[in-house]
Amino acid sequence: MKTIAVVTSGGDAPGMNAAIRAVVRTGLHRGCDVFGVRWGYHGLVFDEMQLMGLREVGGIIQQGGTVLGSARCSEFRTPEGRQQALDNLSRRGIEGVIVIGGNGSQAGAQALYELGVPVVGVASTIDNDLVGSDITIGVDTALNVALEACDRLKVTASSHKRAFMVEVMGRDCGYLALMTALAAGAEAVVIPEAEKTPEEVAEVLRRSYQRGKTNGLIVVAEGAKNNAEKLDAWFKANAPQLGYELRTTKLGHVQRGGAPGAYDRLLATRLASTAVEYLCEGRHGVVVGTIKGEITGTPYSEVVGKHKSPDLRLLKLADILAQ
Ligand code: F6P
Repeated sequence: MKTIAVVTSGGDAPGMNAAIRAVVRTGLHRGCDVFGVRWGYHGLVFDEMQLMGLREVGGIIQQGGTVLGSARCSEFRTPEGRQQALDNLSRRGIEGVIVIGGNGSQAGAQALYELGVPVVGVASTIDNDLVGSDITIGVDTALNVALEACDRLKVTASSHKRAFMVEVMGRDCGYLALMTALAAGAEAVVIPEAEKTPEEVAEVLRRSYQRGKTNGLIVVAEGAKNNAEKLDAWFKANAPQLGYELRTTKLGHVQRGGAPGAYDRLLATRLASTAVEYLCEGRHGVVVGTIKGEITGTPYSEVVGKHKSPDLRLLKLADILAQ
């Protein structure tokens, strides 16, 4: 394999730049030319890509986001768009592609693979809902951002005897919310995998106030049916007696920005470098992740269309420890 391309796709994740750097430098080390594709699959469809040199990836390991840009590209979902991508790859002599991203991005990668392009995926999404990796690039940093926010909110909450409802990201998955709740010592967590009614949330807060707590924290996943907006509207309309005053904070994209921590830099570096080795050794059609501490390639057929859930036994632990 002499020419490869690297794409970052879907929601950006802290550590993507470390992954790009590892792909470029491992690829050059193996004697390949490496193209960086701009704006996710958009760059494949519309031929926006550039050759990357050693110095072009200097000073990016510590930066959040992705220097290549990312996008969710509707054109790539059409047969015409995919054909355009294939034509662009073959015109430039690109023989293999590395796709750094989460569920949607790896579904696109599988489509490209099924059209005959050697493709290897790298597991990256802050949601940690991708099968094929126990933890994905960006999760640890996003979790630490959410945790810092919760720690700060608990300080101001206890000054005023308030409760805070904090919404964290996670479109279909409660991993970030559950882990944030456990690490922040929240009174309750509301996630798509284990919904709570507004009445149940109110009861948890009321009981924690009665046990003498000076602050309350409810962590809510954005993907929960009763997300922060719904819960907030219910609390405003019903004004239940909690003891605490209630405030709501939605963290949103603040969790995706910022510098990757050591864990994400190292994970991204190891996964992306392995992805290049796989591509060069002819091991295609897999997503590179880490399973039980080992770097592993899982076939697309076992990854795409599946959904990883958090360990729900931790819900019980969170309840016990919130006493
Ligand atoms: O998939 C990662 C994620 O951050 C989800 O948690 C969130 O629902 C989604 O991306 C937001 O997407 P966008 O950045 O396109 O608004």
